[in-house]
Amino acid sequence: MKKKLIAGNWKMNGSLAANEKLIAEILAAKPGVAADVAVCVPAPYLQQVSALLAGSSVDLGAQDVSAHEAGAYTGEASAQMLKEFAVRYAIIGHSERRQYHGETDESIAAKAQAALKAGICPIVCVGESLEEREAGHTEEVVRRQLAAVVHTNGHCISEIVVAYEPRWAIGTGKTATPEQAQEVHAALRAQLRLATAHADRIRILYGGSMNAANAAVLLAQPDIDGGLIGGAALKAVDFLKIVEAAQ
Ligand code: 13P
Repeated sequence: MKKKLIAGNWKMNGSLAANEKLIAEILAAKPGVAADVAVCVPAPYLQQVSALLAGSSVDLGAQDVSAHEAGAYTGEASAQMLKEFAVRYAIIGHSERRQYHGETDESIAAKAQAALKAGICPIVCVGESLEEREAGHTEEVVRRQLAAVVHTNGHCISEIVVAYEPRWAIGTGKTATPEQAQEVHAALRAQLRLATAHADRIRILYGGSMNAANAAVLLAQPDIDGGLIGGAALKAVDFLKIVEAAQ
């Protein structure tokens, strides 16, 4: 059976002191055995957190990656640069980047390719807005977002992680019900099955107000293979409870 993956997305939070405390508290629990565990940290802290995690069973992730290898791309970091800090995962196409940074399905697909080429596992985010859900367009939207990555990919698509994050559930305290989430995850799995014989190996995470109280029931769904955790990843006790629920 594949291991579940619990990945914290710290977003733009942290400080040298806070990171050190949070990582020490997480590592004290020795997580990462029954489930895979990762923390996706702001770029300036990659070096610090990479050193703190060295030799542990918790993996390091970035929150974005450039589609380009090098050159005149002010503000960007290439997959090769991330690799130098032992980055294993990169979140790609988070709804906050789609919303505030104009990222498109095409630019996200190019980033996923760049990550795979460097041996970094892209965590490809998809998710609908409230209006899209209410209009009955959820599946159409997430299938379009995933298709862009699946169809332009020269690398083995079975090496990606997918994260379903309904936009209306992010940071709102409103979680998709287990049934709502499972329905979308099953649709994404079916789409992946058409693209690869290894679709059952691909982990499809749920993200959006996942917390210590609701994690177990979400993670019990057949197609929910882990979580991408925002707010609750900033407190070790909450994050560790979610990791425990994934075992
Ligand atoms: P919250 O868990 O804070 O809702 O954030 C989810 C998210 O966006 C993870 O990437």
